[in-house]
Amino acid sequence: MSQYHFNPETYEAMVASEVPGYHRLQERVAAATAGRGAARILDLGTGSGVTARSVLRHHPRAQLVGIDESAEMLAAARHILPPETELKVARLQDPLPGGPFNLVVSALAVHHLNGAGKADLFRRVAAVLLPGGRFVLGDLIVPRDPRDVVTPIDHVYDTPSTAADQLVWMRAAGLVATTAWLERDLAVLVGDLNGTR
Ligand SMILES: C[S@@+](CC[C@H](N)C(=O)[O-])C[C@H]1O[C@@H](n2cnc3c(N)ncnc32)[C@H](O)[C@@H]1O
Repeated sequence: MSQYHFNPETYEAMVASEVPGYHRLQERVAAATAGRGAARILDLGTGSGVTARSVLRHHPRAQLVGIDESAEMLAAARHILPPETELKVARLQDPLPGGPFNLVVSALAVHHLNGAGKADLFRRVAAVLLPGGRFVLGDLIVPRDPRDVVTPIDHVYDTPSTAADQLVWMRAAGLVATTAWLERDLAVLVGDLNGTR
């Protein structure tokens, strides 16, 4: 995960070889969105579109907005996503695209932010979710047992946090946060926005 610039041509094979649970993570992220009848979805760190494509299989009529700091990765995503998908070159630290969204998803991107950056992002995610909406975060984490670190990271570009810290930051953002799946140094965390406002 320690490459500063992903090559869209080799990205999926490279990440799958470095992250043992990569395909299971993608499946679990998509599964955590299922059955929610989403009309608008925001994908954070779309990359070459793998996560967005698998989420859209559960929401074939949804309109998806994807952001990524890499124009090259988004150019690759364009080839595998429906033509109506909106892809924007933007950083996770930038203001998010205008909501509201029923779902915000992200896989293997948010761990590039530090703790304060994650907490800030989660507040901005909650602000673009509709009441009843869901944030699904699949990412590298710092596991409780150091023997569960199986993905190589550089601690500079890759700055994962514990699942526990991220659940706290989701709750501080006003989300009802739970762990949907945990496998060694990977987790899928879910934050639901309840009620009306
Ligand atoms: C490992 S890829 C994951 C892509 C896709 N979600 C997937 O799982 O296949 C991480 C992506 O996050 C993007 N990224 C990393 N840091 C970012 C930031 N601060 N803002 C926006 N995108 C970022 C990278 O450009 C890269 O495309």
